[in-house]
Amino acid sequence: MSKPQRWMIGNWKMNVPADIEGYARRLSGLPHGQVQVALCPPATTLERLSEALRSTIVLTGGQDCHPAEHGAFTGSVSVSMLQSAGARLCLAGHSERRQGMGESDQAVAAKIEAIQRQDMIAVACVGEPLAIRLAGEAGAFTIGQLLASLPPAARADRLIVAYEPVWAIGTGRTPLGEEIEAMHAALREALTDRFGESGSSVAILYGGSVTPSNVGEIIRRPDVSGCLVGGASLDPATFITLINSAAAGRP
Ligand code: PGA
Repeated sequence: MSKPQRWMIGNWKMNVPADIEGYARRLSGLPHGQVQVALCPPATTLERLSEALRSTIVLTGGQDCHPAEHGAFTGSVSVSMLQSAGARLCLAGHSERRQGMGESDQAVAAKIEAIQRQDMIAVACVGEPLAIRLAGEAGAFTIGQLLASLPPAARADRLIVAYEPVWAIGTGRTPLGEEIEAMHAALREALTDRFGESGSSVAILYGGSVTPSNVGEIIRRPDVSGCLVGGASLDPATFITLINSAAAGRP
């Protein structure tokens, strides 16, 4: 069974860098192979960014989607709409949607099913709030959230898992390296229980306040296949530093 692909995924959230084409040009020299890079811009910027990145190795993705193909769902965007704007992947269940928009595990599962049905990669985001971490229940909570967020027909070959502790997102705080390592090991075990052998090739990313100063310590941990990066992906120079660290950080 093949080893997980290494990834560095930028999530721009509701932000757009001033010079999109300039940003894309900075990424044009990235080599094939070592690290697969992707950027998830706001939906209105997806087509333009996909076009600007067309001759690079960088993929684009949606930040969210509606599970239906089309219909009376004001404000929503379907997976095929994202795909026709160039997306090859889509986040599902980011904590800013679970918490801010009340998205349930079932809603996330429906989105993952819709993403994979279009042959796109679903990035399933999971992670515990601070109170759960302090109560010593982070592992059980996060594994439960992952399993409940996977639809019955989930495909390991179109899945990435992103572990993002809620309290680490945008706060400048991160778990200790050992805590990240323990959670990723538990997620790996859950994935191989769920999918059998193919669960061992699912990439498991860490997300939450990743910066050039902590990425080395994170990326060297076993079962950390890369990072999902918010704030630090808005500046191309910083994001390229993270990509290079991911390429260099493990044997
Ligand atoms: P952050 O966000 O890197 O700004 O903490 C990470 C995320 O929400 O994916």
